[in-house]
Amino acid sequence: MEAASGLRADPEPAPLERRTCEITRNIPSGGYRIFSALDPSGPEPAAGQFYMLATAERWGAEDARPYLARAFAVADAEPERGGVRLDFLVHEVGPGTERLAKLESGEELLLTGPLGGSFSPPSQLSPGAPGAILVGGGIGVATLALWRRRLADAGIPNRVLLGYRDREHSGGMELFQCSEVRVASEDGHSGHRGYVTDLLGVLLEGDDAANAAVYACGPPGMLEAVRAMCEGHGVACELAMEAPMGCGYGACFACAVPLAAGGYMRLCVDGPVVRGDEIETALVPGSNGQ
Ligand SMILES: Cc1cc2nc3c(=O)[nH]c(=O)nc-3n(C[C@H](O)[C@H](O)[C@H](O)COP(=O)(O)OP(=O)(O)OC[C@H]3O[C@@H](n4cnc5c(N)ncnc54)[C@H](O)[C@@H]3O)c2cc1C
Ligand code: FES
Repeated sequence: MEAASGLRADPEPAPLERRTCEITRNIPSGGYRIFSALDPSGPEPAAGQFYMLATAERWGAEDARPYLARAFAVADAEPERGGVRLDFLVHEVGPGTERLAKLESGEELLLTGPLGGSFSPPSQLSPGAPGAILVGGGIGVATLALWRRRLADAGIPNRVLLGYRDREHSGGMELFQCSEVRVASEDGHSGHRGYVTDLLGVLLEGDDAANAAVYACGPPGMLEAVRAMCEGHGVACELAMEAPMGCGYGACFACAVPLAAGGYMRLCVDGPVVRGDEIETALVPGSNGQ
């Protein structure tokens, strides 16, 4: 049973109320920033889950956006004295992420979560899978960092492929505390010049990938390419998807995603991790690809 090895398929339910956490650090990471908060009372999150974040001050005051909390994947989590340390990777794209990126140590972060479901262990996703291939793009690398750590703790072999557009749209590599990381960048500033899916293609052509389990998070175009490549190779995959979110807990339907079998899922409660064969496409309406 994978749960015994530290991989939780059924995350503990989150407290419903919003909690106040203290910011403990905020450091640059390439073109992104990593900020950490000490959660005094929440459960330890599972990889793939997310939080709804807002700041206690200068958030939605007097006609100033943002009004709603913003969805954030958790990039790392570790029990510490006084609670659980949560690390978030942020890329500034609008008023919410700009405010969160400027948080200083000692400031208060308002947080709900952990929300949504988690990644499935490789043996559940693809019986007999020898290990995992993790494919991250841009800010989507965040959620894979925690998954890699959980896989490594459970002794499950994993390979990490990270892709970035350019220097400004890159970061978070230090969250992957391992040497087996291969990088691709579209402008060639780091690693292979091209797409991360070029690297995935090479692995999927290899013999040992026959029963692999692939896990991906990134812009919709990249996720759709990963989904289609895995389908073509008969390889099981899970995608941590993003859609514009309002509430984060199933009430507003802002995050509806079409299903392959017809109908829709609410990504916040039925995802954000979905099996590649469950969805019609990873190109979610309303997303800008970041
Ligand atoms: C499950 C989940 C996990 C996420 N994890 C992270 C994370 O770890 N780090 C991080 O920096 N961001 C993450 N995001 C994205 C972040 O929540 C949004 O980009 C957020 O709306 C930005 O708020 P803003 O006020 O800065 O910009 P906004 O004004 O809300 O948006 C700026 C631009 O981004 C577009 N946009 C908004 N939301 C999304 C979205 N979900 N996907 C694609 N485009 C969007 C808007 O259409 C607009 O063009 C995550 C989103 C989801 C759903
Ligand atoms: S964000 Fe409100 S239902 Fe998903």
